[in-house]
Amino acid sequence: MTNYVNPNLILESSRLEPGEVTWRSPSNLAIVKYWGKHGQQLPKNPSISLTLSSAFTDTKLAYKPKESGDTAISLKFFFHEEENEPFRKRIVNYLESLKDIFPFLGQLDITIRSGNSFPHSSGIASSASAMSALALCLCSMEDRFFGTLDDDAEFDKKASFVARLGSGSACRSIYPAAALWGEYAGVPGSSDLFAVPMKDNIHDVFRHFHDDILIVSSKPKKVASSAGHGLMENNPFAEVRYADARRRLQFLLEAMNKGDLDTFGRIAENEALTLHGLMMSGNPSYILMQPATISILDRIREYRKESGNPVYFSLDAGPNVHVLYPEDVIHEVRPFIEEELLPFCEERTWLQDWVGEGPVEL
Ligand code: PMV
Repeated sequence: MTNYVNPNLILESSRLEPGEVTWRSPSNLAIVKYWGKHGQQLPKNPSISLTLSSAFTDTKLAYKPKESGDTAISLKFFFHEEENEPFRKRIVNYLESLKDIFPFLGQLDITIRSGNSFPHSSGIASSASAMSALALCLCSMEDRFFGTLDDDAEFDKKASFVARLGSGSACRSIYPAAALWGEYAGVPGSSDLFAVPMKDNIHDVFRHFHDDILIVSSKPKKVASSAGHGLMENNPFAEVRYADARRRLQFLLEAMNKGDLDTFGRIAENEALTLHGLMMSGNPSYILMQPATISILDRIREYRKESGNPVYFSLDAGPNVHVLYPEDVIHEVRPFIEEELLPFCEERTWLQDWVGEGPVEL
C-alpha cells in the first residue's frame, strides 16, 4: 500500500540555500459527495468533483536551514499578511504528522504566507484550496532538494495523497477540470488514498461549465465538517447512503461522459439535498440551510421549468448555493441570478466561478 514513508529524505543542511516555493490551488465542488470517513482520512464512498478556478488559495512557503538543533516543526504563519495563531497550530500539527513522509521538514525554519482569492469569511470552504496548495509546496520542495518527483503524474499523485491527509476533499483539487477520489471498480487506478484525474473522461460541455457561488451567509459554520463526518458513524441511514453514492456515481460518470445535462443536474441536486438530509437525520441533528437557501433552490427549479435552461444547484456543508450551468446559457442565466437570486444573498454577495485548469506554480 502506498504510504510514502521515506527516511532517506534528509538534507545535508550545511549545503542548503534558503529558498521559497509558491503554488496557487483552486477549490472544488463535489457532485457525488464525500460524507463519512474512517481510518486516516479515508472516505466511506467514492466522490467526484469539478475543479474550480476563481476560488483559490495562494501559498508561499519560505525555508532556510534551522538554527536550533531539534526536529520539531518551526513555523511562522501569516494569513493575508497577519499572523494567525489558530491556523498556525493546525498547520504545525499537520506538518508534524507528515514528518515520516518529508523528514526534511524537521530540519527547516519555515514561513508560510497564505491568502484566498475570495473575501475572508465569505462562507466559502477554503480547506480544499488551502491544503492542496500547501501539499503542492511540500512536493515541490522534495523535488527541488532530492530530484525524486520529476515525473508529473507521480508528483500529482503524491501531492493528492498528502493533501488528503490535510483535508479529504483537498486531494481532488490537484487535477484540472474534474477528479475522482475513492476506490471505484468502474475507474481503473482509483484509490481511497488519492484522487485521480477525470478531465479526459468528461464531455466538453463540462470543461466550460459555470459554478456561481451565492453567499447566503458568511458566518462560520455551526458544525465543522470534521464533526459532521463523525456523526455519520451512528447515522441510521449511513450504510444505505454509502451504497447509494456508488450507484449514483455510476450514472453520473456516464452522464458526464456523454454530456447528459439532465441526468447530471438531477444527481447533483439529489446529492446536495442528501448531504443536508444526512445532517438533519443524525444524532444530534443539525440544519445548515437557511430560509434563503431554500428560497434560492425553489427559484432555480422554477426557473428551469419556465425557461427550459439547464440550470442546477448544489450545496456544500453550509447555507451557500452553487449555481451550475453550461457556457451557452450564460447570457440568460446571469441576469436571472442578479435579478432574482441575489436579493436572497448576504449583501448580494456572490463569486462567479467556473471549471478550471487546476493548480499552478507561481
Ligand atoms: O474535506 P472535508 O473534510 O472538509 O469534507 C468536505 C465534505 C463536503 O465538502 C461536504 C463534500 C465533498 O466531497 O467535498
